Amino acid sequence: MLVSGRGSNLQAILDAIERGELSAVVSLVVSNHRDVPAIERAERHGVAAITIERASYASRGAHHAAIADALVARGVQLVVLAGFDRLLEVEFVRRFAGRIINIHPSLLPSFGGGLQAQADALAHGVKVTGCTVHFVTAEVDGGPIILQRPVAVRDEDTVETLAGRILVEEHRALPEAIRLFAEGRVVVEGRRVRLG
Ligand code: GRF
Repeated sequence: MLVSGRGSNLQAILDAIERGELSAVVSLVVSNHRDVPAIERAERHGVAAITIERASYASRGAHHAAIADALVARGVQLVVLAGFDRLLEVEFVRRFAGRIINIHPSLLPSFGGGLQAQADALAHGVKVTGCTVHFVTAEVDGGPIILQRPVAVRDEDTVETLAGRILVEEHRALPEAIRLFAEGRVVVEGRRVRLG
């Protein structure tokens, strides 16, 4: 799993595994920032967690290659981006083609491509937003959609209240998508994903 900060989605996955709702092993958590809560959460659950910082590498490509090498060394079968705050190099995406998923806090393709999807949805005035779990491809936030969960926008919403309700849905959607993938039920047909 790739993380960058708070790690609440990582926590949701670890909790789902511990409750027996998800049959999966988080073999490695990689953060691109040091001393973030996500690393602590992993360690608390006995999951290997390392920090691989951009500043330690000469180029973005070398940084992402180092992350990829660490994942390959652990034999990961699925790379889960859970709040990872950088776009991955094309070479990284190629290396794990069809095996990288991301959680995004909007109903894609609306409000993709940024780190402020909840604020953007609120500012735009949409009545329904939500979250999306999708495959990562070279197109930012544009890969085949595995599942989405809607969240109604309320008149009194602030960015914080809306983001909070979306997060509740994220915490259900991401473990669910991993479960479907692990069960071999995610069938990609062009842009569309069929759940077999
Ligand atoms: C989530 O809102 C996720 O959708 C977005 O970044 C946030 C990460 O939160 N990509 P957390 O680190 O999992 O708590």
